[in-house]
Amino acid sequence: MIEPIKLVVLISGNGSNLQAIIDEIESGKLNAHIAKVISNRPGVTGLQRASKANINSQVVDHRNFASREDFDQALMDAIDHEQPDLVVLAGFMRILSDAFVEHYLGRLLNIHPSLLPKYQGLNTHQRVLDAGELEHGATVHYVIPELDSGPIILQAHVPVLPNDDAIRLANRVHEIEHKIYPESIRRIASSQVTFSNGVVYFNQQPITRHNSNLIWVNDSSDR
Ligand code: GRF
Repeated sequence: MIEPIKLVVLISGNGSNLQAIIDEIESGKLNAHIAKVISNRPGVTGLQRASKANINSQVVDHRNFASREDFDQALMDAIDHEQPDLVVLAGFMRILSDAFVEHYLGRLLNIHPSLLPKYQGLNTHQRVLDAGELEHGATVHYVIPELDSGPIILQAHVPVLPNDDAIRLANRVHEIEHKIYPESIRRIASSQVTFSNGVVYFNQQPITRHNSNLIWVNDSSDR
């Protein structure tokens, strides 16, 4: 049996993406081990999810540090203690310093609620509605110093429906996030996806924005 890929998951709140990863591991569909969950906020639901799944967790509260650099250093110390293969940002609502990002380059993943490069930043669902878009989605990408701009691993699309509001649309996006985040980790764990010199490869082929390999298609067959 291949060693499970070792993850540290960073959260700030609800942790539904964390839960999706936990569920896939527990059901045997994802060969991964979550060594630790770290939250920058105490008392959040995601920490309860970790505890329920018997996963170690730690709070590194950004309010206890004088500067972003000090906070990031404490975060790095907490992460590096676990020696993870991947650091998974799952609703982690802090901007990370370049030094942090460079330290984990090629090992740091994020999920963003839009079809990047469209709608970087916050409030994506309302902005998509305001722009009258017909489709929306979510993106898993490697993190680079430029916010929401790293090379893409996987994207999933959802339709924008006529009577959507931001909450309904967000729920639809969340459902697909919960599929593509575990799937991205699975592809990395199996070496189907690799990262080298800022480029993501799928089965040794570079993934470009126009490459169908980066579009997730709902596949109900058993893995
Ligand atoms: C998700 O929409 C994710 O795309 C964004 O933050 C949200 C986190 O949700 N980065 P949850 O905490 O995983 O429920």
